[in-house]
Amino acid sequence: PGYTITARPAEVGPAIADTMHGIFFEDINDAADGGLYAELVRNRSFEFTGTDRAGWNGLTGWTTTTQGRGSGTATTVDGSARLDERNRTYLELALTSPAGSAFGVRNAGYGDGIAVQKGKRYDFSVWARTDARNGTPLTLVLDDAAGKRYTSPQHLVVRGDGWVKYTGTFTATATTNAARLSVLGSGSGTLRLDMVSLFPRETFKNRPNGLRKDLAEKIAALNPGFLRFPGGCIVNTGSHEAYDAAAGYPRARSYQWKDTVGPVETRATNANFWGYNQSYGLGYFEYFQFAEDIGAEPVPVVPAMLTGCGQNQATDDPELLQRHVQDALDLIEFANGPVTSTWGRVRAQMGHPAPFGVRRIGVGNEENLPAEYAANFVTFRDAIEARYPDITVIANSGPDDSGAVFDAHWAAARANGAEVVDEHYYNSPAWFLQNNGRYDSYDRSGPQVFLGEYASLDSKLSNALAEAAFMTGLERNADVVTMSSYAPLLAHVDNAQWKPDMIWFDNDQSWGSTSYEVQKLFMNNVGDRVVPSTATGAVLQPQPIGGGIGLSTWATAASYDDVRVSAPDGTALFADDFSDGNATGWTPLAGTGTWSAAGGAYTQSDTAALNTLVKGPDVGTSDYDLTLKATKTA
Ligand code: AHR
Repeated sequence: PGYTITARPAEVGPAIADTMHGIFFEDINDAADGGLYAELVRNRSFEFTGTDRAGWNGLTGWTTTTQGRGSGTATTVDGSARLDERNRTYLELALTSPAGSAFGVRNAGYGDGIAVQKGKRYDFSVWARTDARNGTPLTLVLDDAAGKRYTSPQHLVVRGDGWVKYTGTFTATATTNAARLSVLGSGSGTLRLDMVSLFPRETFKNRPNGLRKDLAEKIAALNPGFLRFPGGCIVNTGSHEAYDAAAGYPRARSYQWKDTVGPVETRATNANFWGYNQSYGLGYFEYFQFAEDIGAEPVPVVPAMLTGCGQNQATDDPELLQRHVQDALDLIEFANGPVTSTWGRVRAQMGHPAPFGVRRIGVGNEENLPAEYAANFVTFRDAIEARYPDITVIANSGPDDSGAVFDAHWAAARANGAEVVDEHYYNSPAWFLQNNGRYDSYDRSGPQVFLGEYASLDSKLSNALAEAAFMTGLERNADVVTMSSYAPLLAHVDNAQWKPDMIWFDNDQSWGSTSYEVQKLFMNNVGDRVVPSTATGAVLQPQPIGGGIGLSTWATAASYDDVRVSAPDGTALFADDFSDGNATGWTPLAGTGTWSAAGGAYTQSDTAALNTLVKGPDVGTSDYDLTLKATKTA
């Protein structure tokens, strides 16, 4: 049985905005440091701590190294000689090396090492000071564990006991993905180092402090309508913390955009929700610039002063809330304000006098406390609209696709007149197929939907197809769904906290998933208008076994006249014609044996038995490799 699809081009369907499909960037899976941000040195500012990850410290990512009979000690210090009040820890090398030798530290970058290509140039910089009266000779070189050199050594002399930035360039003499950067001081005395940095000369659009070219180009090829950033769960982390400007910056604080602008050596790093350090080298200026470079509308998300993502806390500090509301106002000034304004001037000083054109801003991410969230949302929204009436402030609906928290968020959004609500869900491919019509019945007079995060779970071709099918449902409802973005965008193979992901990479290669290809297809072919159509005829629907949707659902649907359980290759294993009115009495088909110990009555626990039957004992119940195919007469 098949469909008959009837298109009605004479009827005018909803317009589809160019910004319908975009991307969501979050610093998860090493997406920023070690990923899109092209910096090759890990822990360049010696700021890693045990709060970032248990066992980490200022020398994480570094080992000591010597040349000849060089000797000394290497200690990280949060002391009064610091480079900046917000970049507090530095490396102190007590040098005791005889002439002709040197002592120092070595960094292996992210993943397996630093990747360099023969003939390409790499710019290094290091902030340094020394108490040696005649200065301290400094040597920098890229080599590997076997001692093979990939550059000739670069020499300079550090002079004076005040911080100075020293710079230079390597040209790689061979290609490797396993180099280390060594920085060695000669002689005696105390040499202090901070912000030891190495960038490829070639970055995306050759921006200084720029982005890794292959990753940025893959993202640009998507042709995204917008860029939602910087999170995700990292936005709200620790947002209940008492902010103490005098003490500086508690770790695991919420994502505060002011931490991330200005010269990189003045940006305070932070503990990341996903269990690593954020250097903020890729900060708000760089995000805005990237969005502009790829023709995407920037859609920043600010903390709502609640913790989300499985934590349930709201700030009870009205001053803290107000400071964050002011931060949101200042952010809009930073993005859009004239160069004569306080924050517009900062943007201009960073190299972009023209405004970045922010039109929409999100408040919060996946909060579990709808009432508290709604109160804070209104506080933010009212303050923003009072000063910037043209800005749309986006609310959100929590972490689920449905349920009590979701419903309460939506009820509050309707009650407080929110314009747009951000929905997130990660479900099975079958859920996406079954929910193609999710938005057909959404209230057109209420808030619109920004589907800010979604993905079907697993990484198969069928996932991409289910997402593609679902996206047709988004476009069909373009009058109520204004934006959508798959998530997460990027993942480093050696540090992935979340799967599936759209683009994968290691230190010298990157590749898109099948979902990436679907996203690219849709973003590069956004329609102008929906052509109304209807499908009639028999309906063939694949269903998963497990995940809450099982035969019991089907058993109640009297109109099914043939239901089959199929293996991943499509082989039908069991059939039931529902002649007995329920899902008992399954007929095993050739070569499959009986399908459950319970004698045919389906229960959720039979999923494991079925999976074992088809694929062996190591298959989890969350695998959706078995499908139900049901034919019913429409
Ligand atoms: O996309 C990964 C995470 O999923 C996001 O940080 C969060 O918003 C969601 O739970």
